[in-house]
Amino acid sequence: MSASEADLRPVEVPRPTRSNTPAVRTMARLRSERDTLRGLTEAGDPTGVERQHALGKRTARERLASLLDEGSFVELGLFRRRRDEGPATEGRRPRTDGVVTGAGTIDGRRVFVYAQDFTILGGSLGAEHAEKIHRVMDLALDNGAPLIGLNDSGGARIQEGVASLDGYGGIFRRHVAASGIIPQISVILGPCAGGAAYSPALADVTFMVRGTARMFLTGPDVIAAVSGERVGPEELGGADVHGARTGVATVVHDDEEECLEDVRHLVSLLPDNNLASPPGEPRGGDPQDDGRRPRLVEIVPAEPNRPYDMRDVVAEIVDDGDFFEIHEGWARNVLCALARVDGAVVGVVGNQPMVLAGVLDSDAAQKAARFVRFCDAFNIPLLTLVDVPGFLPGTDQEHAGVIRHGAKLLYAYCEATVPRVQVIVRKAYGGAYIVMDSRSIGTDLSLAWPGNEIAVMGAEGAVNVVHRRELRSAADPDALRRELVTDYRERLMHPYRAPEEGFVDDVIDPADTRVAVIKGLAMLRDKRREQPRRKHGNVPL
Ligand code: HXC
Repeated sequence: MSASEADLRPVEVPRPTRSNTPAVRTMARLRSERDTLRGLTEAGDPTGVERQHALGKRTARERLASLLDEGSFVELGLFRRRRDEGPATEGRRPRTDGVVTGAGTIDGRRVFVYAQDFTILGGSLGAEHAEKIHRVMDLALDNGAPLIGLNDSGGARIQEGVASLDGYGGIFRRHVAASGIIPQISVILGPCAGGAAYSPALADVTFMVRGTARMFLTGPDVIAAVSGERVGPEELGGADVHGARTGVATVVHDDEEECLEDVRHLVSLLPDNNLASPPGEPRGGDPQDDGRRPRLVEIVPAEPNRPYDMRDVVAEIVDDGDFFEIHEGWARNVLCALARVDGAVVGVVGNQPMVLAGVLDSDAAQKAARFVRFCDAFNIPLLTLVDVPGFLPGTDQEHAGVIRHGAKLLYAYCEATVPRVQVIVRKAYGGAYIVMDSRSIGTDLSLAWPGNEIAVMGAEGAVNVVHRRELRSAADPDALRRELVTDYRERLMHPYRAPEEGFVDDVIDPADTRVAVIKGLAMLRDKRREQPRRKHGNVPL
């Protein structure tokens, strides 16, 4: 080989292994830096975490892990924090700015979530914190997926002043923009003070946990300073107060784990948005089950005033006796629940004869009205079980605005375009008959049991009004009253009066109620009726 040939041969330089190129080394350093930052952010402040656990609460990330399907969480804005170290937070720029935001799945269905982190500045809401929440709210609406907020916060971040108030305003505006379009669920797992309480109040369903969750506009200290009244936080705005007295909490639980499991259950009953149907469930069922439920006859006493538990009736009609009660502890004289009938989700409204004899009053009307509107917004057919003696009479109710509140329920039913089935189980009197989804306000199918009593009012009351003069001048008023009552019952209250006049479509064997409801809802499956275009109605709020 000549020298020139040797010179032309390629020089054999040892090739660097893939792991020691400058680019790979830089990337390894950057990756480790990122892993460290990520690890620090995800771990949070150990003292804060310890304190949170000592309070019987879990961290934002632990909560999200319970709520979402394993490994499904996609975090957004993980590295987001305050832009400057100004005096607003005493030079602190805590990682995440006190809220973890993103998306995940529940039983494979996508949801958008935020979880406030009390270990960081008490979960208080500053500008960046608010913007992170705004972002997931926008994404939830844009993608037509439910929004779930886990709240645990001291409210507006005091040091950030008006910027934090503006952040709340942005949240409220988004709640309203998304209302009736995507399901919005608020879970209160710690304090929720001041105007912050309006976020859950604007959601569709609000969960609270006993002992740790509190909601109030002004806390005990402010109340003491202003009026001298002494009240503890639990007594002022704990879960039982809001679950049983104010109706602010829709569902109350004893602990976080059970609460988040129940949120998953609720999501399984709701559609992703107002253009979708609630998820159906294939009914394997028991092939021997013919749908007849003879126990219904035993549950409901024939005597119109004897109480029974309407929940037992609901359990017989719906699949597997399983239903999700809304406002279980508030306005218990009316029952509202989500359930499945032959695999399809329905909203059940029923009078509850066990509480206040099942009368309607202001709270019951508001509870049922809100539920009817919720079901209507999310394409959930309505099943109304009627056994109602009327509206609760008395000065308290009249002065509490029972006319205005009753009108809400009337309005809600009149406006509802979803399939509607009414079953009159026993009695239905007066305005309460009309309001409980009668034919006159638009029910699609009205069924009644054979013992039904439908009238303007009960026989004794009616006779006293209509025959007052005759009774006053009668030789034996009691005998005359008995005679008139019997006559009234036979002429105006007999069970075939309303069916004959076309106000009831069929009189069914109580044992066949489940079958009749399944058939009725199947008949109405494709119901489409749009409300005429208008800016919005003027619901009597
Ligand atoms: C800034 C706050 C804060 C807030 C709590 N922290 N709330 N920081 N702004 N709003 C901080 C505390 O300084 C403390 O910081 C840490 O969070 C934990 O708080 P603690 O008080 O130690 O905890 P705890 O004893 O459990 O009491 C929790 C609390 C209490 C009940 C929430 O902190 C409290 O009363 N906070 C103020 C509540 C409030 O009035 N918020 C404003 C509401 S008005 P360190 O550094 O010590 O750990 C509002 C307007 C909204 O929200 C308007 C919308 C229209």
